[in-house]
Amino acid sequence: MAHQTLITGPTLRFDGDPMTGPWQDAVRIDTQGAVVLAGGHIAAVGQADALRTAYPEAVQIHYSDDHLICPGFVDAHVHYPQTAIIASWGKRLIDWLNDYTFPEETRLHDPAYAQMIAARYLDLTLAHGTTTVASYCTIHPHSADALFEAAAARGQRIVAGKTCMDRNAPEALRDTAQTAYDDSKSLIERWHGAGRATYAITPRFSPTSTPDQLEALGALWAEHPDCLMQTHLSEQTDEIAWVRDLYPDARDYLDTYEAHGLVGARGIFGHAIHLEPREIDRIAETGAAVVHCPTSNTFIGSGLFDMAGLAARHIPVGLATDTGGGSSFSMLRTMAAAYEIGQLRGTPLHAAQLLWLATAGSARTLHLSEQIGSLKQGLEADLSIINLRSTDAIAQRHANASDIWESVFATIMMGDDRAIRDVWVNGVRR
Ligand code: GUN
Ligand code: ZN
Repeated sequence: MAHQTLITGPTLRFDGDPMTGPWQDAVRIDTQGAVVLAGGHIAAVGQADALRTAYPEAVQIHYSDDHLICPGFVDAHVHYPQTAIIASWGKRLIDWLNDYTFPEETRLHDPAYAQMIAARYLDLTLAHGTTTVASYCTIHPHSADALFEAAAARGQRIVAGKTCMDRNAPEALRDTAQTAYDDSKSLIERWHGAGRATYAITPRFSPTSTPDQLEALGALWAEHPDCLMQTHLSEQTDEIAWVRDLYPDARDYLDTYEAHGLVGARGIFGHAIHLEPREIDRIAETGAAVVHCPTSNTFIGSGLFDMAGLAARHIPVGLATDTGGGSSFSMLRTMAAAYEIGQLRGTPLHAAQLLWLATAGSARTLHLSEQIGSLKQGLEADLSIINLRSTDAIAQRHANASDIWESVFATIMMGDDRAIRDVWVNGVRR
């Protein structure tokens, strides 16, 4: 029998989607909960007393009432190569890319630097309770190898792809339609489905790809339909105007992708803030997902994502840091920013909805609901244990909370990596 670990304490449980119905029907906290881990998977979830009896051989670990046992956080849109330029001052999207991002991404032409940044990035995000990310790499194929290898070394589930750009970027950061196709294809053969890895075909965004490159990547996706496809959509108004100039025949920004076979159920569109009604209709019809990047959207000055409107259309929505456009590696901080943007739009999100978005919601956008994102029997054993009194400021609010949701909300709003008591990856405590 596989080695068993019985983890007891308050557990976060999902029974449905809290974005399309009352959150109370979809999310609950079992204060006397328990999870059994065996062989990298969740063998059972239930009440502590019952599982102690059912698994008498298991090694027992208890987290007190001041904790919440959550699925590991899933960050649905990041740029690991931007780790070292996070929090760069004063630019909006296009200038931010040209002045900060592209020079740093150029440095990853050195495989040793890419490996060092990949390791640093995964260690930082694990320390913040994030067990899976969907990352853009750079145009260098070895930058994708570096992240896939670093994730495999840590036993982590990972989604990533080589970023493709063949125009409007420095010479050193340009591939071609053909090399983007060839290099992405050989990375798919090397990594897609290897261990816990998923490959995402990754055109950066329409301004940095020629129609020929988008066409080549659409063809590649058609040949590998079980891969994901990730890109950016309608983040800033200047960007949208630029797309209109570059693609005069397109009906809208989404159409630049749609015309080249890059819109479909396994497509994931980051930001998606300034959408036209037709774009929303097409996203809803095709089953594509969008990702909310709230700290990035305020930091780069992009706009206020319409969570309530898109969720009401049953569009799968994930949550993401978008580092280094985002200003934090922390999904707690990211949930807080999503709450604040909801307030600015008159639709505050409940703590239960925020936690769901940061776990099951993001996992759904990555088509990984059967692997990660929930405490459910059969899923992979990735857990984040939240300490609900991690600082003096949070502890005094916790002490004054009238129920556990009030306490959880204080940690969402004020917490950071100090609130991550433990992280379990693939059944192993890190
Ligand atoms: N649009 C195209 N590339 C990027 C990027 O690296 N970050 C963000 N936030 N938006 C982008
Ligand atoms: Zn991005």
